[in-house]
Amino acid sequence: MNRKSSHLLLSIVITLTCLSAKAAESASPPSKLVIHADQAKDTISRNLYGQFSEHLGHCIYEGLWVGEDSTIPNTRGIRNDVVAALKEIRVPVLRWPGGCFADEYHWREGIGPHDLRPTMVNTHWGKVTENNHFGTHEFMDLCEQLGCEPYICGNLGSGTVQEMQQWVEYITFEGVSPMADLRKKNGHEEPWKLKYFGVGNENWGCGGNMTPEFYADQFKRYATYVRNFGSNRVFKIACGPNGGDYKWTEVLMREAGRRMNGLALHFYCGTGKKSRSATEFDEDDWFFQLKNALRMEELVTKHSEIMDKYDPENRVALLVDEWGAWHAVEPDTNPGFLYQQNTLRDALVAATTLNIFNNHCARVKMANIAQMVNVLQSMILTDKEKMVRTPTYYVYQMYTVHHDAKRIPTDLQAANYELGSDKLPAVNASASRDDQSKIHVTLCNLNPNNTAEVSCEVDGAKVDSLKARLLTATQITSHNTFDKPDAVKPTAFDGLKKTDNGFVATLPAKSVVMVEVQ
Ligand code: AHR
Repeated sequence: MNRKSSHLLLSIVITLTCLSAKAAESASPPSKLVIHADQAKDTISRNLYGQFSEHLGHCIYEGLWVGEDSTIPNTRGIRNDVVAALKEIRVPVLRWPGGCFADEYHWREGIGPHDLRPTMVNTHWGKVTENNHFGTHEFMDLCEQLGCEPYICGNLGSGTVQEMQQWVEYITFEGVSPMADLRKKNGHEEPWKLKYFGVGNENWGCGGNMTPEFYADQFKRYATYVRNFGSNRVFKIACGPNGGDYKWTEVLMREAGRRMNGLALHFYCGTGKKSRSATEFDEDDWFFQLKNALRMEELVTKHSEIMDKYDPENRVALLVDEWGAWHAVEPDTNPGFLYQQNTLRDALVAATTLNIFNNHCARVKMANIAQMVNVLQSMILTDKEKMVRTPTYYVYQMYTVHHDAKRIPTDLQAANYELGSDKLPAVNASASRDDQSKIHVTLCNLNPNNTAEVSCEVDGAKVDSLKARLLTATQITSHNTFDKPDAVKPTAFDGLKKTDNGFVATLPAKSVVMVEVQ
């Protein structure tokens, strides 16, 4: 063999060795999921798939509301394209007007003829002038167009008890009363139904910097005057803890648990370790973010344990009415507008978190991702007349199968996803049975390098047919833009194999898969 051919042979050997090492790396050890199909019990409330819209940046103005005179097609000022897209994901409930904005909002400034409404400064979010053109009537119209329940958050931080009492009267009183007459004068003869009402927002922070003891007293005082009129029944929601503030939950449940219907936890999962950018990050950042998202499991478990102590009958719901990934704003945008892009990483954050909520549906009855359009981890981004669906939107679309279905308990032994000296479970899952007895299993593979083989045993049900949808993309940073709106989009998935007692799913690296079993 001459020098040239021995060189060639050596490089072939090296290449083959590298390839086989890579092939050996490309699959995680198998994971095992037992699906107890005969034990379906608690309902996964569709409200776990709720949304949040605040007067912040371009969420309301431009994102949802363009005004009747806009050249952008609209119905009574509300964008038709955005409503049509949101109807596809069947938004069940929408929280409004904030957020921090709620505790500065005075609802009477947002009713009556647009040109007579006073302006205000949105001090929290960019100090922009708010023209109050989107108010109570416009919000209720939006909910009607979306076919969702309204969830209004009242102003406890800077508003009066009377103001809160009158807002509920304005919306729901059906007879003759000063507020009902005012509503009629403003063009809405019939009262609306309003079930969900928040008594303040983040009152441990932007809503007044209160101690839990002080807020518990304030909650009781304000909530007393949030009345049920006619057949309307208000579900009163107290401001809950900031992430792992267990003392807040303890004090609120002890002092005011009997007077509330729900307690609202807020948790935003920290962004990258090295980069806070929504689109420019590496595997360390990917890992860091997903590890943070998984903290939701611990939070809902521990807050639920405290609630179990004070409310063993499980009467008070735990709501997570603000959650999501919070990145740096997009370059050259107003820092106060919280406008961020949304990648495949955000889709995995959403899918993982929704699996956690599904699995805790006995106590967790509502969740509202922040926020619906153009702010934080949104479903939709808009730019003037353009609109794009984010990867997170597609997770919500795939998970509609769980709305109001019965949760099926599962046991999961997940392989690890290791990075450096750290690790997290590579796979997470949840399962449900719908009213036509179809079983749906949603699975995430958080490992961006390896496929994950999940051997799924279905106990107590026959597996006749299987079909599945997949959400993944070429890069961890893949995202949809106005020019390339379909870079991250679900496709049909054929990585399933039927077995004697279930099926094996081979999940591609960095993917979300929804399996339908019949
Ligand atoms: O969603 C953005 C802000 O985050 C909300 O206004 C506030 O409640 C939270 O701190």
